[in-house]
Amino acid sequence: MAVKEIVADIRHLSGEVYYPSPEVLERAYIKDYPSLYQRAMQDLEAFWAERAEELEWFRKWDRVLDDSNKPFYKWFVGGKINICYNAVDRHMKTWRKNKVALYWEAENGERRVLSYYDLYREVNRFANVLKALGIRKGDRVTIYMPRIPELPIAMLACARIGAIHSVVFAGFSVEALHTRIEDSKSRLVITADGGYLNGRIVETKRTVDEAVRRSPSVEHVLVVRRTRHEVPMEPGRDYFYDELARLPFAQGECPVEETDAEDPLYILYTSGTTGAPKGQVHVHGGYAVYIYTTMKWVFDIKDEDIWWCTADPGWVTGHSYIVYAPLMLGATSVMYEGAPTYPYPDRWWSIVEKYGVTVLYTTPTAIRGLMRFGDEWPNRRHLSSLRLLGTVGEPINPEAWRWYYRVIGKGRCPIMDTWWMTETGGFMITPMPCVPLKPGSATLPFPGIRADVVDENGNPCPPGVEGYLVIQNPWPGMSRTLYGDPDRYVKTYWSKYPGWFFTGDSARRDEDGYFYIIGRVDDVLKVSGYRLGTAEIESALVAHPAVAEAAAIGLPHEVKGEGIHCYVILKAGYTPSEALAEELRQHVAQLIGPIARPEAIHFVDKLPKTRSGKIMRRVLRARALGLPEGDLSTLEE
Ligand code: WTA
Repeated sequence: MAVKEIVADIRHLSGEVYYPSPEVLERAYIKDYPSLYQRAMQDLEAFWAERAEELEWFRKWDRVLDDSNKPFYKWFVGGKINICYNAVDRHMKTWRKNKVALYWEAENGERRVLSYYDLYREVNRFANVLKALGIRKGDRVTIYMPRIPELPIAMLACARIGAIHSVVFAGFSVEALHTRIEDSKSRLVITADGGYLNGRIVETKRTVDEAVRRSPSVEHVLVVRRTRHEVPMEPGRDYFYDELARLPFAQGECPVEETDAEDPLYILYTSGTTGAPKGQVHVHGGYAVYIYTTMKWVFDIKDEDIWWCTADPGWVTGHSYIVYAPLMLGATSVMYEGAPTYPYPDRWWSIVEKYGVTVLYTTPTAIRGLMRFGDEWPNRRHLSSLRLLGTVGEPINPEAWRWYYRVIGKGRCPIMDTWWMTETGGFMITPMPCVPLKPGSATLPFPGIRADVVDENGNPCPPGVEGYLVIQNPWPGMSRTLYGDPDRYVKTYWSKYPGWFFTGDSARRDEDGYFYIIGRVDDVLKVSGYRLGTAEIESALVAHPAVAEAAAIGLPHEVKGEGIHCYVILKAGYTPSEALAEELRQHVAQLIGPIARPEAIHFVDKLPKTRSGKIMRRVLRARALGLPEGDLSTLEE
């Protein structure tokens, strides 16, 4: 098996290398990555079966991997397991019952502390209410909520009864929410009256009302009270959660559904290159095994840890590493409701100090953003509880890496730069504490993952040469299909190189085999780590009466990584103006969400297109950056 090139001798590496300290190694679960990697690759099924033993199954699997219908791989076939049971109920039998599961802090300083037992009671109550509203196994439930404890509670409650949740990030607005409700045909939408961000109320309920107006599948809207400001309630359709939770049917235990390992747990939409967003489907069994293992080994989670993942539960990072994996591990987590700079730029550092956070997991955008305020803000706080740091979502530039390492980690805390995608469920290319680090590199594949950088024909690229990042074997955390569109799943991920998973990212490896992720090769943008499709932005623009045609591209942005630039052809009768540009930016923000607000609108007379009428975004990018325009043979006259 050709695995030795991946695990080059990590004791002798070239370039700027940060070797783990004896203290870090001493504490780590995994002290010898290369031999673990070798062992995993020699017998993948045995390796994953051993990992799965750490979870609790109602019925053990008959087969670890069923690859009889590629690329629709099945894991732990015949096994019965429920992820909610493993995240919550399991701890009722141990001392962790009264351990803190979650410290929640609101923007205004309000706090809630939930033990595992508290969580157990809350999840049962919520699940009882879902059942009373007629929700059954296999039903889809859309969740659109601010960052409050009821968000993970609602997710766990769905999982408990075998309903499939589809969480839509509350930073998205009407259009994005509507298309996701439609695609999943959700019967129920769970939301809150509002949330707080930067001291202001975010009107989640009103957004839901607008989105649901055109969604006939929705029977009920369940509203958790957070802000307690007045919101419209439609009689017979809308209920306040606390009012139902008080009723007799909501009391007591709600039995756990004994779901199949391959039963869907959730749908999570990612922006596609064209057309509708893609609903990634994750399942109860393999997904649980994968995220449990990756979190345990990469962040070396032990009982004394205080884990803080700053992501929103509405993104895959939050699904895997705020909600499910930390709870399955019995960890104590911190969740913060609001903005990092509210009311001052040391808010995050004060949270680290206050709760004694030991592991902090965040994004390069957040690091760059906070770095701009200078070292004084973090230096004013005690950050000595930290022992490990992490990043995710976009490539981290070496300057930001070094700042994070030096100013936040005080040179003691290794940085786990984890590369993965919604599609992969969990970390794929990532260090572990025992792996030497290089700034800007996500280092090496997780045990059980064979990855490479290849050219157009699938041949490995020589060191330093950019190519496509591919995954060459199946893994338990992989998304199983695209909801309602299996053909698109095959076409998007498994057709360019049959048998291999096509990530859509470009990367290069250095002479030691270390991976450096460069960025997307398709029309997906990463704005502040958020994944957006050019198609969504473009269709928002053409929905405006003044716009005839539009193209959106991403250009480098100092803090956000990428900023959105739009090229717009106006309809006859409209003239370009600064006021119209601003109106269009607001229009996009209103339809998709504030994160999609374009940096700039450029009015143009025509767009570069292929003869078949496809916009050549790469030509727009090259022109904007003053780079060579490349092959123009398909450009129309
Ligand atoms: C990018 C987020 C560089 C990448 C978990 C990928 C990264 C996309 C990293 C998936 C990283 C994620 N270094 N790039 N450590 N992590 N990406 O689905 O382009 O929101 O394809 O999942 O984020 O974004 P998604």
